[in-house]
Amino acid sequence: MLALLDSGIGGLTVARAFCRRCPTADVLYLADAANAPYGTKSPEELLPLLTHGIEALLARGAERVVLACITASCLHERLPRSLQPLVIPILPFVAERIAACRGRVGIIATEATVRSDALSHALSRYGCTRPIERSAAQPLVALAEAGKTSLADAGVQDALERAILPLLYRGVDTLVLGCTHFPYFEEAIRSLYGGLHILSPARIGSEALVRTLPQEMLRGEGRFTYLVSAYGRK
Ligand code: DGL
Repeated sequence: MLALLDSGIGGLTVARAFCRRCPTADVLYLADAANAPYGTKSPEELLPLLTHGIEALLARGAERVVLACITASCLHERLPRSLQPLVIPILPFVAERIAACRGRVGIIATEATVRSDALSHALSRYGCTRPIERSAAQPLVALAEAGKTSLADAGVQDALERAILPLLYRGVDTLVLGCTHFPYFEEAIRSLYGGLHILSPARIGSEALVRTLPQEMLRGEGRFTYLVSAYGRK
């Protein structure tokens, strides 16, 4: 059984795309709502929370845990060594696609991801050393959690413009949705900035999982179990 972990509904964008491609896989999903958001936390705060979530999913029978969260993926190499082989971060899949991209690339992501060196390290493994423009878009996480993802919803256009316009001024023509909550805004982004080429972690992550997971993990009964960590546990 495959498990996916995120702070909330963001990783569901990856899980949904994965289940569409692979409807027979058994999937366990943990929304760590008790500790959301992840993107405002330091690595020191986040690492024990991730370790706890991963261990809980393994204890429920998961064979692999996908960090369906770019913020968490940035910390993969700092997780306990015994867990690392069982954990699949989605950041390297996204980095591989960025490295193959010809355009001028910009990324919108959480505060923690924008601060982290993990993206540059992941890119350099694919031979990509050119600079990637970065913009923090943390308010989009709370908007997505509140179900506000269309331009008609208060605050959405403003948050998108604040995040994306600085990148456009720097000549970006390829936008990476560097947080798994952001694919919920893809339609809104397309209607605001039609010419942008968008790289989505949901599409990239789900394709890569189907390509790289052992075949037996793709064959099950198509069960989907959704777990939410208890609110109030900090
Ligand atoms: N969806 C997550 C990510 O991809 C985390 C968002 C948050 O909790 O701040 O980074």
